[in-house]
Amino acid sequence: MDKKRVFSGIKPSGDFTIGNYMGALVNWVASQDEKENIFCIVDLHSITVPQDPKEVKRRNLEFAKIYLAAGLDPKKSAFFIQSDRPEHSELTWILNCFTYFGEASRMTQFKDQYREKKKNVTVGLFDYPVLMAADILLYDTDEVPVGEDQKQHVELTRDIAERMNKKFDKLFTIPEPIIKKTGAKIMKLGEPTKKMAKSDVNPNNSIYLRDNAETIRKKFSRAVTDSDNKIKFDKAKKPGISNLLNIMSVATDTPIPQLEKKYASSNYGQFKSDVADSVIEMLAPIQAKLAEYDKNEDYVLKVLRDGAETVAPRAQAALKRVKKAVGLGI
Ligand code: TRP
Repeated sequence: MDKKRVFSGIKPSGDFTIGNYMGALVNWVASQDEKENIFCIVDLHSITVPQDPKEVKRRNLEFAKIYLAAGLDPKKSAFFIQSDRPEHSELTWILNCFTYFGEASRMTQFKDQYREKKKNVTVGLFDYPVLMAADILLYDTDEVPVGEDQKQHVELTRDIAERMNKKFDKLFTIPEPIIKKTGAKIMKLGEPTKKMAKSDVNPNNSIYLRDNAETIRKKFSRAVTDSDNKIKFDKAKKPGISNLLNIMSVATDTPIPQLEKKYASSNYGQFKSDVADSVIEMLAPIQAKLAEYDKNEDYVLKVLRDGAETVAPRAQAALKRVKKAVGLGI
């Protein structure tokens, strides 16, 4: 049986956190043999809000280093920088002309961002979901693993694809959103009811992949907990402790009930210090590999170039099919 083709994107809009690692990258590495994976570093999405050009460039390379250091094998999974494949932008334009202003206006992520900012919101930010649809549809994608917050965008992708399939006959594979029910959703250390985010302005809310042991200990020691001094998983009443249990569970590959038992008579100070140690230990081999890739950036650049080459035939074929159907070009 053919392997299912999986496409996922990660936006280089801030430094990579253990939330990105535990929530996405770990699963990608684990699925390398059973799926045909395409993982894209979506720099075009990142510039929908203001960015420092130097940082965009740095993070593109940094994310590729992190993928490699975490164990993604470029022979099994393709990864590349979105803007290195011009088909993404070109298909976006065509899809724009088959996307209704009304349906794009209903995207809750855009509405939230617009409500929050109001000023200087770009057309690019409004168009973000259509660019995402182009990403997905260019590669005849079967499955799109995303967080709950991106489900609506995958549904828009399906709507656009179905609409164009009706009009032009079998243009696109209809993708399935894969929403993880279990697995790690890591929360902010200082605000454990909100998801840990790359773009957080407060660095104490996140553990970054390059954080050293001292920083990691300090951040965990300041993590918000509660006052009942019991190490029990209860998301509603004890979001801080639950988050720390979750982190330790992934870092040590130990089920949460087992951790609850182990720490039944410990205080929060001891527990936090052990959580910090578990993360330091988890990150040590990754950080060692990152240091190697720092010395060998040419190799990382080559992996990215090769990745963009590997996926080219499929993207070019899809774009050609669409242009032909719509009547574009000569
Ligand atoms: N918008 C996604 C996010 O913020 C990132 C993304 C861009 C993506 N293109 C994609 C995810 C295509 C899946 C498929 O998480």
